[in-house]
Amino acid sequence: MLFKSSRIVLGIYLLIRYACAFIHPIEVNGKQFVDSVTGEPFFIKGIDYQPGGSSSVNDNQDPLSDPGKCARDIILFQELGINTIRIYSINPDLDHNVCMTMLAAAGIYLILDVNSPLENQHLNRYEPWTTYNELYLRHVFKVIEQFSNYNNTLGFFAGNEVVNDSRSAKYSPPYLKALVSDMKKYIHENAPRAIPVGYSAVDDLHFRVSLSKYLECHDPSNPYNEVDFYGVNSYQWCGKQTFVSSGYDKLVNAYRDYSKPVFFSEYGCNEVLPRQFEEVQALYSSDMYTVFSGGLVYEFNQEANNYGLIDTDADGNAILLPDFRTLQSVFKKVRFPSTLEVRQAILKDNVVAMAPAVKSKCESSYQNLDISHPVAANLATNMIKSSVKVRESKYVDLTLEQLKTPYKIFESNGKEVLRNARVDIVSNFDGEDLKNIRRLHKHRYRSEASSYSKFSTLVLITIGIIELAFQLSVI
Ligand SMILES: *[C@@H]1O[C@H](CO)[C@@H](O)[C@H](O)[C@H]1NC(C)=O
Ligand SMILES: *[C@@H]1O[C@H](CO)[C@@H](O)[C@H](O)[C@H]1NC(C)=O
Repeated sequence: MLFKSSRIVLGIYLLIRYACAFIHPIEVNGKQFVDSVTGEPFFIKGIDYQPGGSSSVNDNQDPLSDPGKCARDIILFQELGINTIRIYSINPDLDHNVCMTMLAAAGIYLILDVNSPLENQHLNRYEPWTTYNELYLRHVFKVIEQFSNYNNTLGFFAGNEVVNDSRSAKYSPPYLKALVSDMKKYIHENAPRAIPVGYSAVDDLHFRVSLSKYLECHDPSNPYNEVDFYGVNSYQWCGKQTFVSSGYDKLVNAYRDYSKPVFFSEYGCNEVLPRQFEEVQALYSSDMYTVFSGGLVYEFNQEANNYGLIDTDADGNAILLPDFRTLQSVFKKVRFPSTLEVRQAILKDNVVAMAPAVKSKCESSYQNLDISHPVAANLATNMIKSSVKVRESKYVDLTLEQLKTPYKIFESNGKEVLRNARVDIVSNFDGEDLKNIRRLHKHRYRSEASSYSKFSTLVLITIGIIELAFQLSVI
């Protein structure tokens, strides 16, 4: 018995070590996100996550700074069956290693906004020239510098709904383009891989098309200032609707010729309660999957605006709200299209098929936007050259204890659930990926050659493979 349990502990320990290396970076290929290792299209099935709202980010805490709360929420993310979260604000001076490792081990990606409501950490949409300065750019670069070391960072949002009315549309657009350029140059010079940069837009018909076109357009004098993906915050499917009655058909049509991936960076109208999330089925259906790469439901935590899936009590315990279980059952039915299905569907639609090849040239004007305001140039040059300093970020070894949460989880009727639950290490061990372990391990340990001798690596891998084979055969 003792032998068996210590063997399982060893197995799990090894799994954890392995899991860290196994989350494959996502990259952009045409209108699709793809898994950079398998080449398969990647669809976002996720939620927006900002416990306490953006204003709860401060010197001491942010959504990824408390491992116990991360474990609680990641257990629930896995219960929901998601693969991505979006966070709106973090503090790049805090330590995020444990939470990011736990997310990676759980197979969950992060899309991160680089702004926060704190001073010098966002653009003023009506007077952007007062806030687009070196202090602000330093903050943005610190976020990038810290999170670019994690393979499960899927992308960065330069802004969220910065253009949200006619006044902001008059001043902000050129600043967004400049910021995208600064971010992409920083990544190009300093990050280990080309992490995509996008923008998250309010879905307002005044600039649905024009802003997306402006941010995508190709300027030969600056190849960095085009977004790599576009997020749309859409709340137009409320209650009982269809693809057509919701207006999703027009939305899809508006982005068919977009050259980059598009997805819902927020969705889940709450005008009709309780929510049924019937739009989920449409989002991953052949009506949409050639144009939309999935989306993120707004939002995980309950706030005053009443979109939450869970609430927390004063002790930090979680209470599942009814929407949690509804969304879980809807998500369970989602089947992602296969590589072949996506390829065939794209070939059937000429506009979609041609879109990535057609680089839209920057025009001199865009409907309902003013792009004429000049932006101070070269503010970022020195920081990009020398890179900014941040706390070291990397995946770390997790203990079994860290995979559990000190908090309790209750159903909405008060019944405790998921007692003793643990973050599930999902990695590529099942089925055919077992074959790849050896190859992947070589990969991982090569970059960590200083901490492992070749011999102990070999021993560890051998034990791991035997252990895994044993465990799989037991199951
Ligand atoms: C990150 O991904 C790259 C490319 O797949 C891989 O070479 C590297 O080992 C990964 N690093 C970690 C820490 O997982
Ligand atoms: C745009 O955002 C600002 C700041 O949050 C807000 O005051 C304004 O009302 C918003 N405009 C619209 C049309 O929602």
